Amino acid sequence: YTVTPFQNEPFTDFSRPENKQAMEAALLKVKAELGRDYPLRIGSEKVMTEQKIVSVNPGNVDQVIGHVSKATQDLAENAMNAALNTFETWKKTTAVDRACYLFRAAKLMRERKHEFSALMVYEAGKNWAEADADTAEAIDFMEYYGREMIRLSETHTHRPLTKLPGEENRLTYIPLGVGIVIPPWNFPLAICVGITAAAVVSGNTVLLKPASVTPVIAHKFVELMEEVGLPDGVINFIPGSGAEVGDYLTSHPKTRFISFTGSKEIGLRINRLAAQTNEGQIWMKRVIAEMGGKDGIVVDETADLEEAAKAIVASAFGFQGQKCSAGSRVIAVASVYDRIVQLVKEHTEKLTVGLPELNYPLGPVSDQQAYDKILAYIEIGKTEGRLLVGGGKAQGNGYYIEPTVFTDVDGRARIMQEEIFGPVLAIAKAKDYKEAIALYNDTEFGLTGSYFSQDEARIAYALEEMHCGNMYVNRKCTGALVGVHPFGGFNMSGTDSKAGGHDYLLLYTQAKLTSRKL
Ligand code: SER
Repeated sequence: YTVTPFQNEPFTDFSRPENKQAMEAALLKVKAELGRDYPLRIGSEKVMTEQKIVSVNPGNVDQVIGHVSKATQDLAENAMNAALNTFETWKKTTAVDRACYLFRAAKLMRERKHEFSALMVYEAGKNWAEADADTAEAIDFMEYYGREMIRLSETHTHRPLTKLPGEENRLTYIPLGVGIVIPPWNFPLAICVGITAAAVVSGNTVLLKPASVTPVIAHKFVELMEEVGLPDGVINFIPGSGAEVGDYLTSHPKTRFISFTGSKEIGLRINRLAAQTNEGQIWMKRVIAEMGGKDGIVVDETADLEEAAKAIVASAFGFQGQKCSAGSRVIAVASVYDRIVQLVKEHTEKLTVGLPELNYPLGPVSDQQAYDKILAYIEIGKTEGRLLVGGGKAQGNGYYIEPTVFTDVDGRARIMQEEIFGPVLAIAKAKDYKEAIALYNDTEFGLTGSYFSQDEARIAYALEEMHCGNMYVNRKCTGALVGVHPFGGFNMSGTDSKAGGHDYLLLYTQAKLTSRKL
């Protein structure tokens, strides 16, 4: 089966009037549809429950995005049964057929791109470019994993086994079973689509438990899959509380795997629960967990400081720093330290904060809990470093926080060690590049990092020494592209699953060797 080679979905240039107008039209259309009720999806049933998750706009907390039905353990059990039954037929569909559902969905999403992005502007508080990149990544994941599944199903032709006369041997990749898919709210479309699509195209059926902060955009994806004719029961949509539904399903004996992206604390909890075998369970559950980061940018004295400062500010404050890839630490060598601090200050002060719909560079943080936590970290920062920019709440009817920078922070300070997941940057000084890299590595995480330098020998040293899954040179440490920068990290950053890479679908499949005597 031949498909066109994978290509990344281009980002939209909103400085062009026609694109700006199209986005404004999409925002109006989506706004008119806000506030609806949404059902669970269990097999072929749409179940409207009394209890609802209320999704609100974090940038305008009086605006309700939608009321989303909330699963109980009983409903989760029904969904598990639907997924188990559907698995028996879905696993028999061909790889190409499964991939084609994704290709069709990608096509439709591309046609309605701004609508998906607009919904994230309201529900997640993304500015237009951040929302557009999220939608583009979702499209990429579907196009990419569709192709990857086809490739995997043809492994015997392009990676043949060693020949043995008198035998025909073949390795095939078969699905695992029913998976629990738990995406995060910060890439509420891209990662939701990515992990769901990977699971499903590999022949598994899933229970999708969306993030409680962003369930409406997840529902929009589920609707899209229905529209392209994905059989009922392949994706079951069961929003609910982590404590009630998440734990229950993670512990369920029929759960074969859990694909999670979110915080370290919840990832570790899932790993713990999944490790216990329960009555009736006949496998070890597989856990795919992408967790946090305390990512950083190292700047040496040969670096282009202007470029470094721009990358630092983009990495620290893109989507208000709410990315596992966010560059929340900078380590600069002493001789350029003052200059880089000055440049970071200038670039940060240019960032205005306001309503995402109006496309301010910075918007709100996700919810009250995040808001309180980030503001508490800012207070901690005031005792651990020197406040350079920001330092508190920003104006607006939502969870707005000023982009905040601390300098002269010690490597062991809490704001250098703990993931804040907000617009807070800590800058530390090192005597030379080796000390700077050692400081960079002094973390339990290992997701992304950047090294700014023009010295080849040092770049070579940094490439080898900086211990992170995604290591960049002379560029920002966010914005990994599907297929281009397979994404995932080391240590407490998770299972290094490398989303958007050639190895990813191996996590959702198991290899079966068949050997036949001729
Ligand atoms: N993949 C995103 C990035 O690279 C984070 O999830 O920024």
